[in-house]
Amino acid sequence: MRVGVLTGGGDCPGLNAVIRAVTLKGIQVHDWEIVGFRNGWRGPLTGESRPLGRGDVEAILTRGGTILGSSRTNPYKEEGGVERIKSVLSEQGIDALVAIGGEDTLGVANKLADEGINVVGVPKTIDNDLGATDYTFGFDTAVHIATEAIDRLHTTAESHHRALVVEVMGRHAGWIALHSGLAGGASVILVPETPFSVDQVVEWVERRFEREYAPIIVVAEGALPEGGAERLQSGEKDAFGHVRLGGIGNWLADEIAERTGKESRAVVLGHTQRGGTPTAYDRVLATRFGLHAVDAVAAGDFGVMVALRGTDIVRVKLEEATAELKTVPPERYAEAEVFFG
Ligand code: F6P
Repeated sequence: MRVGVLTGGGDCPGLNAVIRAVTLKGIQVHDWEIVGFRNGWRGPLTGESRPLGRGDVEAILTRGGTILGSSRTNPYKEEGGVERIKSVLSEQGIDALVAIGGEDTLGVANKLADEGINVVGVPKTIDNDLGATDYTFGFDTAVHIATEAIDRLHTTAESHHRALVVEVMGRHAGWIALHSGLAGGASVILVPETPFSVDQVVEWVERRFEREYAPIIVVAEGALPEGGAERLQSGEKDAFGHVRLGGIGNWLADEIAERTGKESRAVVLGHTQRGGTPTAYDRVLATRFGLHAVDAVAAGDFGVMVALRGTDIVRVKLEEATAELKTVPPERYAEAEVFFG
């Protein structure tokens, strides 16, 4: 049997751990040939691939990014995309595909499964916003990086009596902001799910200044003020229709400075949250996802995604997994509010 593997969407710590687990278990337990497709769905569209052997994956567990490359290519936006994928898979003798990605990559996997392609999905995204799984790998690493940044920023905020706004990733879901803000003792956490009042934020910031304790405001890139809109870096859309977000941190820092008369600065963490080595938690989760994806392929159970439920790895229909984004529920956000101000 020949099994293809690809990584699509934004890179994410733990992708290589999945590739390694799929390759090693596929070869060792099933004697399969493993083929790595390059750059997300672009690989199966163009045929760009390479065989993966033990030597290719043995040293990649700790490495960030993906040895296969990634892209946001959408085969459904390409002329004859699905037919091209079908003929590449048949030319290369690929019996099944393991697609590692977030909502977009797995949304494509779901449609391709309906077209009769044997595909198993593995959920990745630092945003942790995929439905049907308790956690995605990459999230824990992103939260660690953001928390470390917040810890370091406390000293400058305190020493210079400044308000510091930390902009973290999270397009539609505020999981990174919520978890890093809680872990870092932020005075305000702002998430895309709950539009915020600038007046209220200013009041919380003033209270921290009164106690001479550093105001740190953690804001997700997709957060928006009441009655306002998301801040965009570019209105240009990618192949899945996403605009590039960014700018809310600087905007809010300016608002705070103007209204409080205190110095206020923004720090945008950006892609540092996606880079570097995965945490031990993410390495283990990614590895277990890879091992269970191989089991699904071996069982001929296609059109599914492996998912974490409690401490178990289960299989869920791709359709269910991609139906709805997992956003921060209001009651989870409300838990954090006791620490605001
Ligand atoms: O989906 C993960 C993510 O990191 C989002 O939080 C962010 O909006 C987006 O990717 C950024 O993607 P890119 O690196 O393509 O600009």
